[in-house]
Amino acid sequence: MRLSDCHNVDDFRLLAKKKLPSPIFHYIDGGADDEITLKRNTEAFNKCDLVPNVLTDVSDVDLSTTVLGQKIDFPLFLSPTAMHRMYHHEGERATAQAAEKFGTFFSLSTMGTTSIEEVSNASGGPKMFQLYIHKDQGLTDNLIDRCKRSGFKAICLTVDTIVAGNRERDHRTGFATPPKLTMSSLMSFATHPYWSLNYLMREKFELKNVSHMTKKGSSIEMSVMDYINQQFDRTMNWKHAEYAIKRWNGPFALKGIMSVEDAKRAVDIGATAIMISNHGGRQLDGSRAPFDQLQEIVNAVGDKIEVILDGGIRRGTHVLKALSLGAKACSMGKAYLYALSAGGQIGVEMLLTKMKSEIERDMTLMGCRSVRELNKNKIAFR
Ligand code: LAC
Repeated sequence: MRLSDCHNVDDFRLLAKKKLPSPIFHYIDGGADDEITLKRNTEAFNKCDLVPNVLTDVSDVDLSTTVLGQKIDFPLFLSPTAMHRMYHHEGERATAQAAEKFGTFFSLSTMGTTSIEEVSNASGGPKMFQLYIHKDQGLTDNLIDRCKRSGFKAICLTVDTIVAGNRERDHRTGFATPPKLTMSSLMSFATHPYWSLNYLMREKFELKNVSHMTKKGSSIEMSVMDYINQQFDRTMNWKHAEYAIKRWNGPFALKGIMSVEDAKRAVDIGATAIMISNHGGRQLDGSRAPFDQLQEIVNAVGDKIEVILDGGIRRGTHVLKALSLGAKACSMGKAYLYALSAGGQIGVEMLLTKMKSEIERDMTLMGCRSVRELNKNKIAFR
């Protein structure tokens, strides 16, 4: 299988599986516990159907939308995900530059392997930073202030990862960060020499945004799960979110909102947007799919705050369904990590090309000339 054989997200996934040592592949691909929520995130789109209109002159279809103060060329962007250099040596530079080419948001994770400043130098496109509230407030403040200085357009605060989820695949495969040769993973690294050599020969693997603040004289490199469990502030509450919004003083999203009640509080504290998300099914298994919660949340707060749907997106029609129910835009994580693993920047650009043309073709077939024409009349539940 080659990159040219990839026609959809599932194909990129298969190629990623072939190219990556298995602990790395399963870290992307997996979810928490029994992975029920992970599966549900995509299945949820299938309980309703699109209802097209015809004879509408769709010679000119405008896919652009405005989200978090930024006009983007089509209503799908890259969610924050950790450690891109683990999937491909080009890392976050590749994903940021691919997003820039497509005029959409790239989101840099606190746990990125490329720094805020490096990403800013590499890409002039719209950039969002994903923030965690750390026990060390100085570190949280430092991240916000650096984003301001580096021209980031928006911040999203992840609110669903107060502790790390139970990723059982990672226990089984011996996944570790930085990647380590363990007895259980040895064969997998040995049978993926291209990946392994790249990993060894290229830039050192580091959580570039935070390593200088967390090592403090210690040479012990922390794994991502340890990082979450040791550094994140479990007292995190609405006051912390409000504080971060004020300090940033710009477009701000809360990522990981799932209930109507919390969506209303997000409005009260002045957030620009909420990302309905369960962290790609990687945190609380058995929690609802974002798409299942969308309608109720839009009905409650859709006229007061931007609603972004994050999770399970694999097809252009998924984006159309979310927009029909009132989402401003959608974001995807796993899908582009498969493409990054499969082919670096070229892989991500191929995926974005395919997703964009799917959305455009689907809009045309729906008889919609602009994303504003997607509304509840365009969707029916079974
Ligand atoms: C994860 C964290 C790091 O889902 O966001 O793996």
